[in-house]
Amino acid sequence: MTTPVFELKSVSAGYGDVQILTDVSIQVPANSIVTIVGPNGAGKSTILKSIYGIAKVTSGEINLHKLSGESIDVRATKPHHLADIGIAYVPQIDNIFPTLTVDENLDVGYKHNGGTPLQERKEKLYKQYPDLVIRKKDRAGTLSGGQRQMLALARALMSGPDILLLDEPSAGLAPALVDQLFDELVRINETGATILMVEQNARRALEISSYGYVLDMGKNRHEGPGKALAVDPEIVGIYFGKR
Ligand SMILES: Nc1ncnc2c1ncn2[C@@H]1O[C@H](COP(=O)(O)OP(=O)(O)OP(=O)(O)O)[C@@H](O)[C@H]1O
Ligand SMILES: [Mg+2]
Repeated sequence: MTTPVFELKSVSAGYGDVQILTDVSIQVPANSIVTIVGPNGAGKSTILKSIYGIAKVTSGEINLHKLSGESIDVRATKPHHLADIGIAYVPQIDNIFPTLTVDENLDVGYKHNGGTPLQERKEKLYKQYPDLVIRKKDRAGTLSGGQRQMLALARALMSGPDILLLDEPSAGLAPALVDQLFDELVRINETGATILMVEQNARRALEISSYGYVLDMGKNRHEGPGKALAVDPEIVGIYFGKR
């Protein structure tokens, strides 16, 4: 594999004195979609939270490798500076500001990364999300579930990120909207964003992923090309039996 754009190397992390992750390693190649799946409570969200300093990392490395060749030590970067260095995070809940308008939500997400001016980036996103244009002046709290998720993605893209971290992007969406969401992620990826996501909708997510990781009890359990993992009989039996 060429140098990944983003990587966790033997990361252990937890909350207070409780250790949740043990020696977790994840590599995210540039322009890929990588998905982390696993049972409830496996520690999937904790991986994203450890990147954000919400969970405490006790050992290991988290690195962002810029196209310029510069490597950034994410553990040494303050969480509120992560958007400035090119990491955007869409948490599962509270991923928009409900009392701000759609337009204001996009403004808040803006970072100068890559040099594109705010208006230009916003206009580009509005072209991609015509539904949001219609609702531009409405408070985000009045959007439907699908529209909110689109706004959350658009807001993250306003920062011009090198990598998008998504926690359960399809959660709570009606089945038809789940398909739309995954199509949208493929499109976002094709237009240049690298994606690392955590998903309950494992099979669907792995099918669009270049690579996948199965996490179990806070440890790496399996990994492989997304399409292969999605149909691996052992993994299907253990993890996706319910779905
Ligand atoms: N803030 C917290 N303080 C203490 N323990 C926590 C905290 N957040 C999560 N945990 C615990 O960490 C473990 C892993 O949780 P995590 O949310 O990372 O799992 P997950 O794989 O994302 O699960 P799910 O599929 O349900 O979203 C669980 O045992 C959970 O109870
Ligand atoms: Mg979770």
